[in-house]
Amino acid sequence: MDQNAKKQAVAKAALDYVKDDCIIGVGSGSTVGCFIEALAPYVDRIKGAVSASESSTAKLKAIGIEVFDLNDVSELDIYVDGADEVTEHKHMIKGGGAALTREKIVAAVAETFVCIVDDSKRVDVLGRFPLPVEVIPMARSYVARKLVELGGDPEYRQGVITDNGNVILDVHNMRILDPKKLESDINAIAGVVTNGLFAHRGADIVLTASESGIVKY
Ligand code: A5P
Repeated sequence: MDQNAKKQAVAKAALDYVKDDCIIGVGSGSTVGCFIEALAPYVDRIKGAVSASESSTAKLKAIGIEVFDLNDVSELDIYVDGADEVTEHKHMIKGGGAALTREKIVAAVAETFVCIVDDSKRVDVLGRFPLPVEVIPMARSYVARKLVELGGDPEYRQGVITDNGNVILDVHNMRILDPKKLESDINAIAGVVTNGLFAHRGADIVLTASESGIVKY
């Protein structure tokens, strides 16, 4: 089974968590793209979605799913999203697609976070994937110096502006043994909007596609 087939399989498995008449939170990335495609038969069964990126919003609207502003929604039953890395503790690195801030906001509102990944994303320790940090543009150099003090090796993601008008620093060479502490420490730097560690609000359910099928934990 190639990686794309695994993404499609795990996206389909997430449909089991979609209840009738609810508004669902939808993340971003290629695995979520497969989930949105799989949602097509559910268009008349759900009320709609809240989306974490402009790109997912366009895909949801294209199949006829109403996209709500999060401010008009008081609760979300589930949030379905991919990850760049995930551990057995359901902590994640996200933001490879630069949508981390909105993803974190929508995830915070949702009752249940269903993370959908293929088995290449499973790691014992977070940090091999460079940790994305969304930064207010004028603070870029200052934040980069602070990230070096925290032991990282930040790299400016050239040519990328987030949906919120900010820039991304990707932090290399981190072996993240205490993801909750690092998430808090980075978020405490002035000029940081948020970082791609999802540890304080990790996933509730992780669905992983592997050669032998879907594993849930
Ligand atoms: C987007 O900003 C990310 O958080 C994605 O969830 C993550 O990069 C996974 O994307 P893929 O499903 O494309 O691997």
